[in-house]
Amino acid sequence: MSDVLPIAEAIARRAGAIVREGFGHVRQVRQKGVIDLVTEFDQRSEEVIVSALQKEFPEHAILAEESGHHARTGEYQWVVDPIDGTTNFAHGIPLFAISLGLLRGKVPVAGVVYDPLHEELFSAVLGRGATLNGRPIHVSSQTHLGQALLATGFAYDIRTNPRNNLAQFAQFQLRTQGVRRLGSAALDCAWTALGRVDGYWEFGIKPWDIAAGGLLVREAGGRTTSTEGDEEFLSTGTIVVSNGLLHEQILRVLREGDAAPLPQ
Ligand code: IPD
Repeated sequence: MSDVLPIAEAIARRAGAIVREGFGHVRQVRQKGVIDLVTEFDQRSEEVIVSALQKEFPEHAILAEESGHHARTGEYQWVVDPIDGTTNFAHGIPLFAISLGLLRGKVPVAGVVYDPLHEELFSAVLGRGATLNGRPIHVSSQTHLGQALLATGFAYDIRTNPRNNLAQFAQFQLRTQGVRRLGSAALDCAWTALGRVDGYWEFGIKPWDIAAGGLLVREAGGRTTSTEGDEEFLSTGTIVVSNGLLHEQILRVLREGDAAPLPQ
């Protein structure tokens, strides 16, 4: 897998250059759903990534946010988000990333999250640790939920889905140092891997948002599960990442809601 990583990093950088140039120059914003946007740069970034992956790894399948499945028969599949944080990007908010995750079966085995404006390239290979711009990174050492800074996000069906995370957002806001809504799940995970935040959870999340980020957290010494605690998180549409030390406390708040203890 280590030989795959430099190729994935180079592809993420190439797509990142396109997205960086497009930042502040968006002309076409289309609504995929009521509040779900796509820009011409999502499409251009994805075309570059998909054609490069097809050239480099002709036997690998690809699942990409905008164009869907590009099937192959092999056991490996790339899961691609050409701009994770499209709403931020379309509004000129400088927080978004390119995310490339490689799965073997259902297990993430390599991942790259690239923030092109801040030139932060997060990478991980299963069993080999996680890095930021080539330097090893580690999750935080926070053990008290009451002192922890968490991140979360809200799915695009927030207006219609009763499990829209608003109740959980309020519960964590009362039980932590604070909760941030960055607008990019890939960066929520990468920042957990780096220790900028201590954890992140979300419901209704797509595999391309979290495949690379979920591995980054594990390889940085943290833990990644579904909101029910399953290690095989990708197919559940939910995620909890943390420094590991806070994981059970986060799962408890998700399980017990208002009945979970308030910090002393
Ligand atoms: C979205 C972002 C956001 C999260 C949404 C995702 P997109 O991805 O990651 O933070 O809350 O659930 O769909 O649409 O910008 O690729």
